[in-house]
Amino acid sequence: MALTQSGSGRDGWSSRTAFILAAIGSAVGLGNLVRFPAEAGANGGGAFVLFYILCIVLIGLPVLLSETLIGRHGQAAAPESFRKVAEQSGKSTAWEHVASLGVLSAFLVLAFYCVLGGWVLYYVGVFAGDLFTTGISGGAFSDMTVAEVEGLFPAMISNGTMTVMLNLVFLAVTVFFVSRGVSGGIEKVAVYLMPAFFVLLLGITIYGLFGGQMGRTLAYLFTFEPERLTGPVMLAAVGQAFFSLSLGVAGMVTYGAYVGRNVNLAGTSAIIAAADTAVALLAGLCIFPIVFAAGLAADGGLGLMFTTLPHAFQEIPGGSLLGLGFFVMVGFAALTSSVALMEVPTAWVSERFRFARPVAAGIVTFSAAVLGALSALSMGVLSGFHPLGFLPMFEGMGVLDTLDTLTGKITMPIGALLTSVFIGWVANKRLVDSENGLDGGLHLFWRFLVCWLCPIALTLILIVGIFPGVLGD
Ligand code: PHE
Repeated sequence: MALTQSGSGRDGWSSRTAFILAAIGSAVGLGNLVRFPAEAGANGGGAFVLFYILCIVLIGLPVLLSETLIGRHGQAAAPESFRKVAEQSGKSTAWEHVASLGVLSAFLVLAFYCVLGGWVLYYVGVFAGDLFTTGISGGAFSDMTVAEVEGLFPAMISNGTMTVMLNLVFLAVTVFFVSRGVSGGIEKVAVYLMPAFFVLLLGITIYGLFGGQMGRTLAYLFTFEPERLTGPVMLAAVGQAFFSLSLGVAGMVTYGAYVGRNVNLAGTSAIIAAADTAVALLAGLCIFPIVFAAGLAADGGLGLMFTTLPHAFQEIPGGSLLGLGFFVMVGFAALTSSVALMEVPTAWVSERFRFARPVAAGIVTFSAAVLGALSALSMGVLSGFHPLGFLPMFEGMGVLDTLDTLTGKITMPIGALLTSVFIGWVANKRLVDSENGLDGGLHLFWRFLVCWLCPIALTLILIVGIFPGVLGD
């Protein structure tokens, strides 16, 4: 394996920049492009978005720093890293189960994430087909009506054979990189593709600027109406912050374990959070003008990106080529995230059972393929199957939505809550301070956030989010 910075003889990132790009690669993905607009639309826009930004800064960032520092200190798969920190602090090693919960969540997210990755592949195929048949001049899908373009998405998700196959393809690409290890596989994807992705997204947002609906979009996304900030909206926002920053699934603990001692974790965490938030907001600014211009409903859910963007490309000259380029990039952004998601259970299986990395990755892939197939089919033939439908929060939800809600609104916030308690109250203070790279006022502020604000706010948000009745609304 290439140069190891972690100093422990394990595979590791080849430089600080490589770590930053890989962590941004993990953070930026379908969470920003598909889930963020869907959640913002479902929760009424402004109140959700502003609370989301607040959550990123006051809760997400301190937890991100906590996770990376546990990983770097432990230099091992996530549960092992938690155990080392607990042991060296003279505390119960049962704390490793916070990470076990994370490993489980990462696996559950992986299972439905790769289904969405498959959807992206479908659009890559559709745009490529259009490019070959109608050429580069004019917009994309010149021989289709707007309604026909809009109809592509529902037709695709209800075609179970196709979505299951595409899910398998996406999983196969993911496992290819994961089995090659950190510096030889995962890092390569991120270093080359993340910068290209940023440029294209910015380009489409600038196009939206001239599309006429930007004023309405800004008002929709940034007008704060406090009465809309209900318990479920707050839980959705905090859950989205974690999902987007890849927190609460021990993902950043796992990535942190490959970081060298010379890296300043606080500064790096801030860069990661800023880049991730910028992409989510850009995605909103790029998708909603098209939603409004096309007269579509803002609460179109996970299909929002897939129904609106093909519209835009229908009108832009050279649309098929640009559309193809865009969806290829979305695919890469999804890949750098799915690789991170698969890395968490793979590192655990391989270190816990002493399996070779490719074997561990194979086991994880097989299991994710099975659960993924159920998720894919839940948009079609299995749409009547509601596994947790007896609980009010999951009423009427198929497998895919159930996994999404269970992780994003329950297991990830709980994982993050326990991580903040662990770092704030359980881990040895000196050990924590030697890793976090903070001093002075910032250090005090961070301690306040992890010790007090994160645990209290997360507990309250979980309660009012899961049981909205307690607030009397
Ligand atoms: N943050 C990723 C996204 O927004 C998803 C993810 C979650 C990746 C957890 C890794 C771990 O798409």
